[in-house]
Amino acid sequence: MKKVLGVAILAGFMFSILMAGGAWAQIKKDVITYDVPYGKVTFTHKKHAETLKIDCLKCHHDWKKGETSGKLCKDCHKATKEASKAGKDIIAKDAYHKSCKGCHDDLKKANKPTGPAGCTQCHVKAKK
Ligand code: HEC
Ligand code: HEC
Ligand code: HEC
Ligand code: HEC
Repeated sequence: MKKVLGVAILAGFMFSILMAGGAWAQIKKDVITYDVPYGKVTFTHKKHAETLKIDCLKCHHDWKKGETSGKLCKDCHKATKEASKAGKDIIAKDAYHKSCKGCHDDLKKANKPTGPAGCTQCHVKAKK
């Protein structure tokens, strides 16, 4: 047991060294989920950035080139217009929809591989 644990810790240590040089040094989660009433959205953050090679700044539009961390969407885009003043009144729901669904829609129109653009394809209701 001790030996297995040692190997696991060593592997984790090596991994962190490997990652320390890249943008992923700042990223903690590979997958981000939004468990909202309309249905759970599963966002494969790492896949979008690393495998699909979408520029960080395409989504993190307020970061400067080279930055790998900073304010997140909901720091500016709030649930209501009143609260969202900093984000020019663009509420969180619209910000995500324009960013996520917007890109999926554009790629679909261009006949390129894309993610879900239909409401219930992206929002998945938990099975009862
Ligand atoms: C397709 C859009 C998209 C791309 C591309 C993207 N991100 Fe993100 N990222 C998000 C969203 C959405 C969140 C969740 C923040 C929220 O909902 O407020 C997030 C969260 C984060 C977080 C905080 C959570 C964590 O894991 O620590 C960091 C740091 C981050 N992104 C860094 C990056 C970096 C660095 C890149 C480029 C290598 C990148 N992101 C590319 C959309 C994206
Ligand atoms: C520091 C505050 C801030 C953060 C953080 C931020 N935004 Fe924004 N966002 C704004 C402001 C201000 C605007 C208004 C237009 C502009 O300046 O680009 C905007 C505009 C947008 C728009 C364009 C809306 C339109 O009508 O065309 C989208 C989409 C968007 N944000 C999505 C996001 C997403 C997704 C994230 C997180 C990955 C995010 N924003 C993080 C402040 C922010
Ligand atoms: C700039 C374009 C772009 C943006 C922005 C974007 N996506 Fe995607 N997304 C894609 C592409 C391309 C694929 C198809 C991947 C493939 O070919 O397997 C995809 C696939 C997906 C999938 C299918 C499962 C998977 O992981 O492959 C989901 C779910 C998804 N995206 C959710 C989101 C969410 C949620 C956001 C916003 C936080 C988002 N996407 C933002 C381009 C984008
Ligand atoms: C590409 C993925 C995607 C697609 C397609 C999409 N959404 Fe969303 N939706 C999201 C994300 C991400 C959020 C933000 C969740 C949060 O604020 O935490 C969201 C938020 C919401 C919310 C607010 C949260 C709640 O449950 O009350 C509603 C309502 C909603 N979406 C309905 C829809 C409807 C209706 C459609 C179809 C017209 C749709 N969505 C299409 C990703 C998507």
